[in-house]
Amino acid sequence: PETARLDADGRLLVGGCAVADIVAEHGSPAYIVDEEALRRTVRRYVSAFRDRHPRSHVLFAAKSFPAASVIGITADEGCGTDAVAGGELRLALAAGADPARAVLNGNAKTDDDILVALRAGDGRGVRYIVIDNLDDVERIARLAAELDRDPVPVLLRVSPSLQAHTHEALATGHDASKFGIPSAQVEDAIRAIRAERLVDLRGLHAHVGSQLLDLDQFDAEAAALAEFERFGVYDLGGGLGVRYVPGDEAPTIEEYAERIVRAVHRHLGDDVELLVEPGRSMIARNVVTAYRVVTVKRGMRTHVAVDGGMGDNLEVALYGQPFAPAVIDRSGPAEIVDIVGKHCESGDYLARDVRVPRPEVGDLVVIPVTGAYCYTMSNNFNTNLRPPVLLARDGRTRVAVRRETFEDLVRREQIVSQEALLGV
Ligand code: LLP
Repeated sequence: PETARLDADGRLLVGGCAVADIVAEHGSPAYIVDEEALRRTVRRYVSAFRDRHPRSHVLFAAKSFPAASVIGITADEGCGTDAVAGGELRLALAAGADPARAVLNGNAKTDDDILVALRAGDGRGVRYIVIDNLDDVERIARLAAELDRDPVPVLLRVSPSLQAHTHEALATGHDASKFGIPSAQVEDAIRAIRAERLVDLRGLHAHVGSQLLDLDQFDAEAAALAEFERFGVYDLGGGLGVRYVPGDEAPTIEEYAERIVRAVHRHLGDDVELLVEPGRSMIARNVVTAYRVVTVKRGMRTHVAVDGGMGDNLEVALYGQPFAPAVIDRSGPAEIVDIVGKHCESGDYLARDVRVPRPEVGDLVVIPVTGAYCYTMSNNFNTNLRPPVLLARDGRTRVAVRRETFEDLVRREQIVSQEALLGV
């Protein structure tokens, strides 16, 4: 992808830094963000929408890579923020995100989540809270009254009755979805919201699914929203898919913006405020993960086991997402291998049947297009430590999130003494 280049000696560079040097300094595994490429993607996104529809806001879906510095970069380059629940919102605000350009989503918001949104920006609150159920309405009205607030601007999340063409777990806009209000109940929900003096309904929200490669689905989404009365604000969620492996095809950001804006103009009006919430398509291709080969087992298959796996990338185990790993800085005869992780589960694959120069212990494996949902769903299975997030730019690397330590992991243990835990 655009993120990785070879230098004159054939060494792999990200952000002008040799991956081998980054790993030598910071260890492996590591998420490496190509900062300049990310900034470029954000600027492209913002202008793709602004150029076609001046009243638009591109909100980075923080869930896709919730590191404060990454959210900060998106804010710096003109993006707002889509946060799910109070934690992401707090992180985004700490990173310098503008509450006036932030939206709070979530299908089960607690009082605490809503309070973060109402208190943001010295009490001015976020731009919109997205209502996902009628309990949200009651909670927002009650908390706004307790805080003696003006009516709280909200959008209503509608389930647009669309079956997205994507993995089942990534489809969110169908009738059986846990997200949003089913279309048949939307009119009642609108009435219920309007009955609350302290909740101010400004528009509708929808999100069809993630990793969508067929732009027709965004036309269908806008058309589905046109079934209801007209509003001044529409938030069409995220969902644009990306290319993961050579041969995949994905629409460009500009093609996506063009289709969305055209569909909105046709179905909803050309003077509305338009919001979109891309996550994957903003970050995925601007990050690589680097691993070191720990062991190679040649039998029925060749298993190349690396020092990470489903602890830092659940996309393969959960959704069967293909990736195209490279064994870097090595040449020679090729071999078809499976890249597996170090976790105690047979589903712990990073890629199957990949053709790479015959790997040896100690080699570096780099997996491109690992920006979306890998860091955010990283975990401590087998008491494994989560990798650092490194920002590479102009030949320099900065640590955005340091590598997790054993001390980090046991800090919450209360019954066995810290002394004992740290003494081993
Ligand atoms: N807005 C809403 C309301 C969403 O639910 C999502 C994603 C987005 C925006 C951002 O969508 P994107 O542009 O990234 O497709 N854990 C899964 C991804 C779940 C995405 C859920 N919602 C994964 O690892 O692939």
